[in-house]
Amino acid sequence: MQRCTIREWRESDAPALAAAINNPRVQENLRDGIPFPYTVDDALDFIRAMLARDRTQLYAYAVALDDGAIGSISVARGQNIHFRTAELGYYIAEPYWGRGYASCAVRQVCDHVFAHSDLLRIFAEPFADNAASCRVLEKAGFALEGILRQNAVKNGRIRDMKLYSRIKSERIPDRNEHH
Ligand SMILES: CC(C)(COP(=O)(O)OP(=O)(O)OC[C@H]1O[C@@H](n2cnc3c(N)ncnc32)[C@H](O)[C@@H]1OP(=O)(O)O)[C@@H](O)C(=O)NCCC(=O)NCCS
Repeated sequence: MQRCTIREWRESDAPALAAAINNPRVQENLRDGIPFPYTVDDALDFIRAMLARDRTQLYAYAVALDDGAIGSISVARGQNIHFRTAELGYYIAEPYWGRGYASCAVRQVCDHVFAHSDLLRIFAEPFADNAASCRVLEKAGFALEGILRQNAVKNGRIRDMKLYSRIKSERIPDRNEHH
């Protein structure tokens, strides 16, 4: 498998970003509020916002393969008493699904954030029936903490979610280690 990397967004990623997210199969597993159809200008606005972000609050990267963007990953710090907790979100362009890239990106972003911030905990809340995303989190060392029953309405459907987290102080087995 080619190894993916995470890197800063570049304005030149806009067409690839728009192609990735302009897909109902990607958007149906994300929160609302993302334009659809999603234009290259929408992508440019997003990339510029990411480049101007407060780097103590938001860690946001392109997932890259051979330097080209194939996805997006972010870790957003919480507020108030949750200031040392952060929420993880990600997607990969559909042509690249099933090759381990999301798992690779999640591991990398967690290692990076835990190494370069005071964050203690990174959590994610996939829809309970998003089996691929749940598997990604499990492969990246996240623990299932519970089911959030009827926690969202997406595209008119009431959805359960799963709460996963990874804690900085917990050692994660290397992906090549035998379990
Ligand atoms: C979820 C998503 C990020 C996964 O990306 P990916 O690069 O294909 O993920 P990986 O290849 O690293 O891992 C996927 C795992 O899920 C498994 N999987 C895929 N579809 C599955 C299904 N329907 N049921 C069970 N397992 C499934 C794969 O077999 C793989 O596990 P394995 O390595 O043990 O075989 C991608 O499908 C996506 O962007 N979806 C839309 C947006 C989204 O859901 N984002 C996450 C929101 S929480």
